[in-house]
Amino acid sequence: MKKMKITGTGRYLPDRVVTNDYLAGLMDTSDEWIRQRTGIEERRWVPEEGNVGASDLGLEAAKIALNRAGWTPEDLDLIIFATLSPDINFPGSGCLLQSKLGLKSTPALDIRQQCTGFLYGMEIADAYIKSGYAGRILLVGSEVHSTGLDLTTRGRDVSVIFGDGAGAVCLEGVETDDNVGLLASSLHAQGDHADALILEAPASRLNPRLTKDMFDDARIWPKMDGRNVFKLAITRLPQVSHVVLERAGLKVEDLDMVIPHQANLRINQSFQKSLNLPDEKMYNNIQKYGNTTAGTIPIALDEVIEQKRIPEKNATLLFAGLGAGVTWGAMIYRFF
Ligand code: ACO
Repeated sequence: MKKMKITGTGRYLPDRVVTNDYLAGLMDTSDEWIRQRTGIEERRWVPEEGNVGASDLGLEAAKIALNRAGWTPEDLDLIIFATLSPDINFPGSGCLLQSKLGLKSTPALDIRQQCTGFLYGMEIADAYIKSGYAGRILLVGSEVHSTGLDLTTRGRDVSVIFGDGAGAVCLEGVETDDNVGLLASSLHAQGDHADALILEAPASRLNPRLTKDMFDDARIWPKMDGRNVFKLAITRLPQVSHVVLERAGLKVEDLDMVIPHQANLRINQSFQKSLNLPDEKMYNNIQKYGNTTAGTIPIALDEVIEQKRIPEKNATLLFAGLGAGVTWGAMIYRFF
């Protein structure tokens, strides 16, 4: 049977470093508050001049991943693009990336599962590979948050958290009987919690969807019930992780690394504790990048590989995340 092999990874973070002190100059917050409550020390933002969208960051990450896989863009059967911050309302960022890669007819699919976008993308890619529909897939998670944040004290709970960045993986169907590839996965959504993290306007349910007075309206900025999201994350991440471990017939000790979504260091510390996982098997980089949503897991994966934090062969990783929707899930991937 064909199994999904990660043949290349890449990441791209814009050069512009934004410190907590810089944000404290824009709103009523402090380096101390942000570090203590979130673990974030700095994040990256796209250049102030603008004109850099999610597909541009995705392109840079994709070029690195393709190069490491030894593929050209023409080798791709499908592009999956996970983002909540598309370059434009439509068409999707996947189409824009496809064009920037110089492709003329390769299918491109945008998915909108926020912080769980990479996990949904992996499961979709695995299904396409197993069905024989696609042999070589590029999966990108990319976000440009910085151009859509309320940088006043009103929006401080959300604005200090998010950063810009992209990660990409090349995924290939490879015939093997070995117990490798996507060993188990469990994905979920619960729209009852849509209000917990939401960007409401402009929107098709409003008529007209955009009005002049909206510029003073809080609905044009992301809004979050941080405590609710925090509670959901610290209960559901361990639950869903135990489900995938059981499905894969594995124990926590069998994992070489856990790469959780990077929403808040305290969430990940609580998650680590409930798995009883030693520090060297938990990867966090929220300190440097903040929450890059669909980008966090592929960015972290690329760093883990680059830093040789996992064995070269048969490393077993658990990915887990929860975010807007709410959507959440976990999966276990074993390298070839
Ligand atoms: N600087 C200073 N003070 C702040 C800031 C800030 N940036 N933000 C909020 N505060 C204040 C609040 O106004 C509040 O003040 P009050 O007590 O006078 O009312 C106080 O700090 C405490 O606020 P809490 O919301 O209780 O603070 P908490 O410890 O919960 O931290 C945070 C807030 C960091 C947002 C946390 O709740 C969190 O990380 N939640 C989860 C975030 C998450 O996982 N998001 C989902 C992923 S993103 C996605 O899917 C797109």
